[in-house]
Amino acid sequence: MNNLMQDKAGLVTGAGSGIGRAGALAFARAGANVIVSDISDDSGLETVRLIEAEGGAATFVRCDVSDETQVAHLVDATVSTYGQLDFAFNNAGYNGVFAPVGEIDAATFDRVMKINLYSTFYCLKHQVTAMVDSGGGAIVNTSSAAGVVGVANNAPYNAAKHGIVGLTRNTALDYAKHGIRVNAIAPGATSSPMMSNAFDQNEGTGFRESVLAAIPMGKLSEPEDQANAAVWLCSDQARMITGVTLSVDGGYVSGR
Ligand SMILES: NC(=O)c1ccc[n+]([C@@H]2O[C@H](COP(=O)([O-])OP(=O)(O)OC[C@H]3O[C@@H](n4cnc5c(N)ncnc54)[C@H](O)[C@@H]3O)[C@@H](O)[C@H]2O)c1
Repeated sequence: MNNLMQDKAGLVTGAGSGIGRAGALAFARAGANVIVSDISDDSGLETVRLIEAEGGAATFVRCDVSDETQVAHLVDATVSTYGQLDFAFNNAGYNGVFAPVGEIDAATFDRVMKINLYSTFYCLKHQVTAMVDSGGGAIVNTSSAAGVVGVANNAPYNAAKHGIVGLTRNTALDYAKHGIRVNAIAPGATSSPMMSNAFDQNEGTGFRESVLAAIPMGKLSEPEDQANAAVWLCSDQARMITGVTLSVDGGYVSGR
């Protein structure tokens, strides 16, 4: 428990699992009121239960982040529930399928773009509008190591996560004078259901071994490592930091 986000209110997307659940718990432990959002009711409600069991305050709002109308509702619901939007952790994502670019159909490319990149645009658009009205705030988008370097066999995700880095820089510039900071985290391989799914899809190819071998610190990150970075970037301790993409990857990108 710390008080980095005391008396703040905000939202976390994709908060029903992995990094998003750890993020929602970390914001609540830091003293914030948290809107827990996910496309899945059951997993989002379970995150609320976990926060409340620790004495924190949280409310579930269902949202498919690939739908702008639902994202607008999510931002409105945060403001009407807690009176303000001080922070947002735009984290929901989907890693798609693993195949070389010549084998990827346009519908798959479109879906991965919608869930990762369009969603981040929708979130930023509606969040900055709410934050301008209340005098400022801080936003963290979840990119990826795949947003900073090339990753074989994952073109749509690779492109979407690079796009999030660009959107982060742009929105930081557009809204700096309004007191809104916008940063991203770039997780390396992190122990979560998404990572397990990637390992399963690539079983027998040596993927798991090559992922671990490429991490200088020799182990996967934990969801809490990403969550702590997101909370710190949203806190006043990072008050002069905007437009950056912070790698949380055990040194992976430095070794590329
Ligand atoms: N785990 C990793 O190794 C890793 C590495 C780099 C980046 N990331 C990124 O971190 C973020 C979280 O990943 P994770 O590993 O915790 O994955 P996860 O699969 O454990 O959790 C993702 C959550 O997002 C939700 N979600 C999926 N589609 C959604 C939609 N359209 N609208 C709203 N919610 C939706 C899911 O229901 C789930 O609760 C993603 O953006 C992912 O791309 C993960």
